[in-house]
Amino acid sequence: MSKPKIVCVVGTRPDAIKTAPVVLELRRFADRVDTLVVSTGQHREMLQQVFECFGLAADHDLDIMQHGQTLAQVTCRALEGIDRILEELRPDFLIAQGDTTTTFVGALAAFYRKVPFGHVEAGLRTGRVDDPFPEEFNRRAASLVTVLHFPPTRWAADNLRSEGISEEAVLVTGNTCIDAVLQVAERHPQDWLPEVEGRVILLTTHRRENWGGPQRSIATAALELLDRFPDTHLAVPMHKNPVVRETLTGILGSHDRVTLMEPPAYPRFVKLMQRSHLILTDSGGVQEEAPAFGIPVLVLRETTERPEGVTAGNARLIGADRQAIVDAATELLTDDAAYAAMSTSRSPYGDGRAAARIRHAVLGHLGIESPAEEPWVE
Ligand code: UD1
Ligand code: UDP
Repeated sequence: MSKPKIVCVVGTRPDAIKTAPVVLELRRFADRVDTLVVSTGQHREMLQQVFECFGLAADHDLDIMQHGQTLAQVTCRALEGIDRILEELRPDFLIAQGDTTTTFVGALAAFYRKVPFGHVEAGLRTGRVDDPFPEEFNRRAASLVTVLHFPPTRWAADNLRSEGISEEAVLVTGNTCIDAVLQVAERHPQDWLPEVEGRVILLTTHRRENWGGPQRSIATAALELLDRFPDTHLAVPMHKNPVVRETLTGILGSHDRVTLMEPPAYPRFVKLMQRSHLILTDSGGVQEEAPAFGIPVLVLRETTERPEGVTAGNARLIGADRQAIVDAATELLTDDAAYAAMSTSRSPYGDGRAAARIRHAVLGHLGIESPAEEPWVE
């Protein structure tokens, strides 16, 4: 008799980082279940980096990425491609994470083919369907067709319950990015950016809501901080999106205490986070990972679906206003007590065992026994 088949769908850098621990965990039970990775290829180089880091490869790669791709183009190309693969593979379960267009389409394709769908990092909400755009829509739509919901925290689980999702379908697991970041930090002990002296400020920004004016304001604020604090150095790993790079290189490209860089592979990026004194970011994953190392985070967004870091005191929601960024960063760069209050190492997003909990639940759903994990208790 053939084994049950699980398909994990990924397309972007965070999809791969947060799904890799689940794939690796499921493959520990390869005697009981086949686990296949399907990539839409919504990202190309940035996805490949993650596959290499975790020793993974796509079993099926739709390779859809185009420069300047629209949301509709990503949606159509990914849906058509995933549907074809589901028809061929006929999996017993499909897994995707988070809120990218690949994830939304994976859930939709599973629904159309009547394949049970498991949603990793379920239940994050801002309450505004257009912010972040289109991610809040993507994750809400995925929830509608999800059979097993894996919220990272109790807060995310409560969001799902308040939408009428039954208790039995929800398991709080912690976020799989904590599994990933802890594994990678342990495996790659070398420091990074050793040639730079002084305090490193790490900046990442790529969100659609920040394209244009807000990103110019973020970059200008960073310049002002460099002027105010001569002992600081700004490290800017640039997302591959040409829209983002044009703004960042235009404003920050010629400063001698700025390092603009190609996106570092995940292990290097993790070292860079650990090397940083302060992080300015609009990234979801970075907001989740930085508290594990006790690095204060200023969130360059108007809303966050990750309030746990703010509540725990590791993160502050600042937005993209130049003055607000300069003021908040100045406080942290001058006031030791304010800095200490935000730099306690704690991990409100998980304990590194999320993938094992997900594996147990998915295999249980398929009628396969495997060792249980205690639920994640914050
Ligand atoms: C996507 C996700 C976003 C996530 C982000 C993580 C959607 C709608 N958006 O946004 O939720 O936070 O990924 O990074 O799913 N590019 C490359 N090489 C790459 C990757 C991207 O050149 O490896 C360039 C291409 O020109 C591409 C552009 O970046 O057209 C935008 O990529 P896209 O996936 O559409 O949007 P992101 O902003 O990356
Ligand atoms: N990351 C990386 N290299 C970089 C920037 C980020 O490996 O140059 C990692 C980061 O540690 C986190 C994930 O990518 O795990 C976040 O991805 P991104 O910021 O692109 O997307 P988001 O989380 O906002 O959806």
